[in-house]
Amino acid sequence: MCGIVGYVGHGDTKEIILHGLKTLEYRGYDSSGMALMSNGEILVEKKAGRIENLEESMKGKNFSSEIGIGHTRWATHGVPSDRNSHPHYSMDKSAAVVHNGIIENYQVLRKELEEKGYVFSSDTDTEVISQLIQDMYNGNILDTVSKVVKRLEGSYAIGVLHKNHPDELICAREHSPLVVGIGEKENFIASDISALLKYTKDVYYLKDGDIAVLKAGSIEIFDRDEKPVTREKKYIEWNLEQATKCGYPHFMLKEIFEQPQAVKETFEKRVHNGKVDFSDVLNYEDIKNINKIYIVACGTAYHAGLQGQFALQKIAKLDSATDIASEFRYSDSFIDEKTMVIFVSQSGETSDTLAALKEAKAKGALTIAVTNVVGSTISREAHKTIYTMAGPEIAVASTKAYTTQVTIFYLLALYMAELRKVISKEKYEEYLSEIKNMPEKIQNILDNCEKIKTAAEYFKDRTNGFFIGRGLDYKVAIEASLKIKEVSYVHTEAFASGELKHGTIALIEEGTPVVVIATQKNLIDKSVSNIKEVKARGAYIITVGFDDEESLKNVSDNFIGIPECNDMFSGFLSIVPLQLLAYYTSDAKGIDVDKPRNLAKSVTVE
Ligand code: G6P
Repeated sequence: MCGIVGYVGHGDTKEIILHGLKTLEYRGYDSSGMALMSNGEILVEKKAGRIENLEESMKGKNFSSEIGIGHTRWATHGVPSDRNSHPHYSMDKSAAVVHNGIIENYQVLRKELEEKGYVFSSDTDTEVISQLIQDMYNGNILDTVSKVVKRLEGSYAIGVLHKNHPDELICAREHSPLVVGIGEKENFIASDISALLKYTKDVYYLKDGDIAVLKAGSIEIFDRDEKPVTREKKYIEWNLEQATKCGYPHFMLKEIFEQPQAVKETFEKRVHNGKVDFSDVLNYEDIKNINKIYIVACGTAYHAGLQGQFALQKIAKLDSATDIASEFRYSDSFIDEKTMVIFVSQSGETSDTLAALKEAKAKGALTIAVTNVVGSTISREAHKTIYTMAGPEIAVASTKAYTTQVTIFYLLALYMAELRKVISKEKYEEYLSEIKNMPEKIQNILDNCEKIKTAAEYFKDRTNGFFIGRGLDYKVAIEASLKIKEVSYVHTEAFASGELKHGTIALIEEGTPVVVIATQKNLIDKSVSNIKEVKARGAYIITVGFDDEESLKNVSDNFIGIPECNDMFSGFLSIVPLQLLAYYTSDAKGIDVDKPRNLAKSVTVE
């Protein structure tokens, strides 16, 4: 939540910051702003609403500057408005600050500063930082910022400009992501590497407590005791093209269509000579005493975990449970050194997931991260990390990250099944070949998506709907329902097909859309009965099932076929048309698909 960016160098500072903000807009789009050092003064421009508003307000103004900071906001403290937008000046305008995170003790600090005569011009928690910089300034900006951040409780990644240090960009982090981009006579900071790809692929990830001082020709990093430290330089493999729309109208559509490639790359990274290889993460010694696996995540990553649980139980015969990170932390789950906890997070920065990880680690569990972002906080905190190969995911609604997370779980289940000797050679080969064939089958669905547009036309005029399924199909229904809610604002609920009749069926009326996922072969007859139950009450039935499933076609108003596969693996496929259903419904309603209201892609507050 919230994105920060900063630049020092001889390039077009305003444009570089605007570019960074546009790339980070997925982190929040309630307002945006920037501060530029110009002729010894700090100029601040900020506007509520989308970045175009900021761009518009800066048009035609001369902002020659060689150092600046920018911010795109997802509001937490203070309504979205010009006055609550970042950057925030100190009262005397000597300092300006951008911030991602939450300062939990800001009320105490604000009161203390107000008693000293400081006048605040926003309702944000952030403004205490800029006022403290003014209050505690001692001529040494590194020392001042270091002392200021010691007074803060909560989380922060900050960028700071100070009038008396016109060629220095200062930044610091604690529990919020921050990366330093290394350029040629120019340097950068950003919440996320995607903002930097256009300029550099060499970065330092700052650690909690780090403070960095950037000049055009130097980067110095200090720990919380102001001691100089070195951080490992990382090279980012992602390319700029992956982070642009490449002719697609929206990132979400592009990312849905990238799934065959993303799943293929995730598979190929882990399968060599017909064998799944996670030996860098786990060996028999690691798992021989494990008696319970938890999968913990938020949002779509949690839903991938539900499929993961299914795979671990069915294939590796391991007792597994899935939990929502914000619940897991407080649920007193029984965790000890015989527990393995797998944390799933596209961004690797989600606050609740990170907090749950720290807790599980403290209780002695073996912790594994499944994430898409190399060097992310969760990847560094876990004992071991498995990377998905989805490439940058920009749309707020997660699609390719989900299918690559599912791929990892199925491969991991096969790997563990073999380590535990609970799978025959024939089954191992058969299952591996099922996964290997998924990219082609997903492509087949993408090549035949016309029927989905018809279903979207139907959905776009509805306010309510249901997704139902049994077994694995129910787990997919939960993700499909979230997808349509978040991007098209149609309220839907996912139900286990057999459960709908226990109350909720009262809501079915003439024309209510019910999306049925019915791929589990031993349960088709039961699904047909469930369809008839709701159809008799007027529901409009959209069914996702295997191509040749006549019994389903006969009872459906719109049947969306997916290619045949072993039904243990159907979750790779059945979600794809439903991602498209969400996309097309949103687009047909004229919604900004990539940036649905109230959401942020990376949720770094609890
Ligand atoms: C937010 C996003 C979701 C995402 C969830 C978890 O809510 O809008 O798309 O699934 O966070 O994010 P993570 O980065 O941990 O997978």
